[in-house]
Amino acid sequence: MSIKLWTDVNLLTMAEGDRPYGLIKNATLVSDGEQIVWVGQNNDLPDHFVGETIYCKGSYMSPGLIDCHTHLVYGGNRIDEFEKRLTGVSYEEIAAAGGGILSTVEATRAASEDDLVKTAKKRLATYMQEGVTTIEIKSGYGLDVENEIKMLRAAKKLGRISGIDVIPTFLGAHALPPEYSDNRAGYINLIINEMLPIIAKERLADVVDGFCENIGFSPQEIEKIFKAATKLGFKLKLHSEQLSDQKGATLAAKYNALSADHLEHLSIDSILEMKKSGTVAVLLPGAYYTLRDTVIPPIEELRRAQVPIAIGSDCNPGSSPVLSLKLMINMASTLFKLTPEEALAGVTRNAAKALGLDDRGILKKGLKADMVLWDIEHPAELSYQIGGNQTLKVIKGGDIIFARDK
Ligand code: NIG
Ligand code: FE
Repeated sequence: MSIKLWTDVNLLTMAEGDRPYGLIKNATLVSDGEQIVWVGQNNDLPDHFVGETIYCKGSYMSPGLIDCHTHLVYGGNRIDEFEKRLTGVSYEEIAAAGGGILSTVEATRAASEDDLVKTAKKRLATYMQEGVTTIEIKSGYGLDVENEIKMLRAAKKLGRISGIDVIPTFLGAHALPPEYSDNRAGYINLIINEMLPIIAKERLADVVDGFCENIGFSPQEIEKIFKAATKLGFKLKLHSEQLSDQKGATLAAKYNALSADHLEHLSIDSILEMKKSGTVAVLLPGAYYTLRDTVIPPIEELRRAQVPIAIGSDCNPGSSPVLSLKLMINMASTLFKLTPEEALAGVTRNAAKALGLDDRGILKKGLKADMVLWDIEHPAELSYQIGGNQTLKVIKGGDIIFARDK
């Protein structure tokens, strides 16, 4: 085991309590291998920790960032649709005409697993340099057994080769594939009877997601999938209330889903159900911005109900061609009026909750030594600054995986 003393640092521990950001000034964090073994003020550091000392010169350190909602693995791009949308054609109109998600399905089916890994690896590198140490990646552009498996394998491989943790999520219910265009029930049965059992058996994902929307799947269709997935031991998530109120979040809560995501059109009754079930509200400002939505999620109501709020990038070629979780911290504050502290909690502590991971997201003894050392003078600078390189060091499991001079 290798002990490291990260000393002379201001820790944004993000532990809940009275202190904003769980701040400990003039602090030391001790990591032993992949774990944090001590956190506290420099003066209180016990003598028995002996190891490599890394002087942090009064910089701020936060938990490693966690992106809890991405579609990072995909083939092709959707630049043509971007240009169409600029002339007034809507996301729904493009989807109804067979474009949108289905155009990425065509490109993803045509790509090999290696192609998918290669293109996604480039995107992932940008995230890592910005401080991301855990990232969720959904399938959902394959929409048949072979191609959904190919996407999940590509996601898993990225986890093995990148040095950060990739959490794969199965999103078979993302869109109706063209070969089932007049047989919706047939596709739901394919998901339930073929895809879910193989994915469970080969342990390709632990979480199942769906797109509950007019242009996606109805709550009734999603419920069938949720029932089958629950029986097989999967955890659940749901894209809900992005474009209209389908009561998807109420359904997610009924099945104790980890999170309901998007939520621009979320209603009060769904919020209360989410509170009861501990379902995290994942907000995706990149999709809101790209689609020029005008309705923001009900932030004040979520706050009042004390539903944990997480922020994701939703990286995907259609509704959120975003490669920066850092920018999402800014947008969560600027567009959704989250406080800088709430925004940072959204990509650390609450993002971990949205993935069902209780071993990270806070700087605390016993949790993973995933950290970021920042070139900032105040924690709110993480929300305030647009662009620029604010990371000094990105640390994964006690090892520096990215460093930049001040
Ligand atoms: O989270 N809303 C559905 N799924 C993605 C968009 C996928 C796409 O447009 O390719 C989302 O925004
Ligand atoms: Fe999404």
